[in-house]
Amino acid sequence: MMAIVGSAVGLGNIWRFPYLAGMNGGAAFLLLYLGLILLVGLPMILSEFILGRATHRGAVGSFKQLAPRSRWYLVGYMGVAAGFCILGFYSVIAGWSVRFLYDAVVNAHAGLSQEEITAGFNAFKNSGWQPILLSTGFLGLTALVVFKGVEKGVERWNKILMPLLIGILLVLCVNSLTLEGFREGMTFLFRPDFSKITANTVLDALGQVFFTLSLGMGVMITYSSYVVKSENMLRSKGIVVLIDTSIAIIAGIAIFPAVFTFQINPTEGPDLIFLTLPNIFARMAGGQYVGILFFLLITIAALTSIVSIFEMMTNYLMEELKMTRRRAVWWLFGTLSVLSALCAQSQVEGSGLRIGNLNVFDLLDLLSANYLMTVGGLLIVLFVGWHISEKRLRRVFTSNGRYNNRLFPVFRFVVRYLSPVAVAVIFLSKIGLIRG
Ligand code: TRP
Repeated sequence: MMAIVGSAVGLGNIWRFPYLAGMNGGAAFLLLYLGLILLVGLPMILSEFILGRATHRGAVGSFKQLAPRSRWYLVGYMGVAAGFCILGFYSVIAGWSVRFLYDAVVNAHAGLSQEEITAGFNAFKNSGWQPILLSTGFLGLTALVVFKGVEKGVERWNKILMPLLIGILLVLCVNSLTLEGFREGMTFLFRPDFSKITANTVLDALGQVFFTLSLGMGVMITYSSYVVKSENMLRSKGIVVLIDTSIAIIAGIAIFPAVFTFQINPTEGPDLIFLTLPNIFARMAGGQYVGILFFLLITIAALTSIVSIFEMMTNYLMEELKMTRRRAVWWLFGTLSVLSALCAQSQVEGSGLRIGNLNVFDLLDLLSANYLMTVGGLLIVLFVGWHISEKRLRRVFTSNGRYNNRLFPVFRFVVRYLSPVAVAVIFLSKIGLIRG
């Protein structure tokens, strides 16, 4: 279970959740996010688990086994595409966290005003080569880890680091109490303003549910295929979802009071936590050390997530294209370095690397979470709800009748109707076919 928590908890909770909540009106976003976690996230994570447990095979393999001679396995390939997009921008953010770690070590932000912190960060992004160097370095490190195959070691690390990360976030929450902007921050995060909700907000909330739970890519299918012992699936996945959601909310409580105290614009976007955190650390007793530890931890959290996506893709290349491990790792490292460099370069002011009003970075972020993962997820619930026989589904869901027999009909109804309809409605309203 810790492995699954480790995959789920990452930059998605600490970086992505606060930035999206900030852009989408805070509490209204939080509420939608919580509703969609229950309506779509939990049934979805259970569905992926059922596929893995029923077949003991990975994302592509489980479809090939359950639906031979059909095209369902293409869903697995969509996951690979999503993973590719995610790694492109995730490694850039991981690179940023390395730079902030360095700044914390040399205490670079001590005594700086908000304008100076913002200017310093912009100069870093605008240099182009600095973020590119860092993200490429990060990918290199990932490639090395995956090549050496120390997955087991990474999981063990997760067990120690995860509680430590939660501990530090809690310290930051307590620290939030002392900030002038505490009330305003809490109001923003917890008092919904429904006029802020648009089709985009709902799609962003849905995308975040998929992103934060690592859904729609078959990652959970792969993990669950390793689980041998029978367990109460609903309970263990419920706990995973609960932990993941709590961490996102805790991160929100740590960030938003500071956003208002230091008058940072909550709609800042992907930069949000990086503009906010240095202030918090600069004003805290012993803040430099808390800062070092914090950035060290999120760097490692990012590394473990990147390693697991990278590993999954290496696996595909080896199994489906019969590459050697060395070759697959080199190939991925090369292509991903180009992609992440494009992402980083697209954030340089005045860069032409954009499509419409989105730069390549934002485009990959939204494309993977809001479209690839959600469509992949939709297909997975449809498959589980409509393609697998009721008898078989019941057997896997209840571990041969041991647990949750009475909840099974509810689960089946949710995966057959509620979840797919929810996802479909969100899409259609986004494209403008339904007006809300
Ligand atoms: N859930 C991770 C996070 O919140 C990100 C993620 C998405 C991920 N898909 C994944 C991690 C697949 C590992 C594997 O940061």
